[in-house]
Amino acid sequence: MKGKSWYQEIPNATRYDTKRFSKGGSLIDSHEKQIVTNFIDTIDGKKILDIACGTARFSLMLADLGADVVALDISEPMIEIGKNKLGQSSHAGDLTFLHADAGNLPFEDSSFDIILAMRFFHLTPIPMYFFLEFLRVAREKIIFDTFNKYSARSFYNWLLPMGSTLHDRSYISRLLSSVDMTIEDSHQDFIFPYGIYRNLPLSIAKPIRSIDSSAVSTSIGQRVSTVSYWSVSL
Ligand SMILES: C[S@@+](CC[C@H](N)C(=O)[O-])C[C@H]1O[C@@H](n2cnc3c(N)ncnc32)[C@H](O)[C@@H]1O
Repeated sequence: MKGKSWYQEIPNATRYDTKRFSKGGSLIDSHEKQIVTNFIDTIDGKKILDIACGTARFSLMLADLGADVVALDISEPMIEIGKNKLGQSSHAGDLTFLHADAGNLPFEDSSFDIILAMRFFHLTPIPMYFFLEFLRVAREKIIFDTFNKYSARSFYNWLLPMGSTLHDRSYISRLLSSVDMTIEDSHQDFIFPYGIYRNLPLSIAKPIRSIDSSAVSTSIGQRVSTVSYWSVSL
């Protein structure tokens, strides 16, 4: 599985937040946090498992909003960085970190209201293997994202240090129906590569984001968007 060892390397873990979510990348971070909160009706009091939590950007936000969160990742360095952010957060809800494998969750069936797995499925060509495990521990909803095959990413994917598995959206839809999961909501976004945002100062990235948002709202833009965000209910 891609990323299982990559994120265990301390330099990769240390650079994760700055490389992806500083400068114009902060627009991606804030947008993704908005998508996740939009997908959950009431966060306060929910029991949420943040799978592949990385440096805990979603775990901290959800705990701040009153959820009881278990933040799980296979990389101890990524978890350590997340733990170091605890001081910056009010976390009204509980937040527990756990070193474990997403494919073998150490929980009983139906332990969580919501399963969140952001930026995880691009690491695996076999999403079904993980879906079944997520489904086992979920009670209400599973939220995740995928990188799309028919997008600009397919042109530069091979240049990335790890590359990503790009999924066909119709394949994901079929996979979800095959396990009787209903797509409650989905959202397509970002035609321009993430790298453009990350490498530009925020002031320049903002107008680019406006152009990107307008373009992605067209029917062609929807079809060539880079990321799909999915909310599926049980
Ligand atoms: C791209 S990061 C995403 C982090 C976070 N969800 C976010 O959106 O910022 C991918 C994470 O998946 C974790 N990971 C990879 N394989 C895993 C596995 N089998 N079980 C749990 N975590 C895994 C990596 O350690 C890394 O922290």
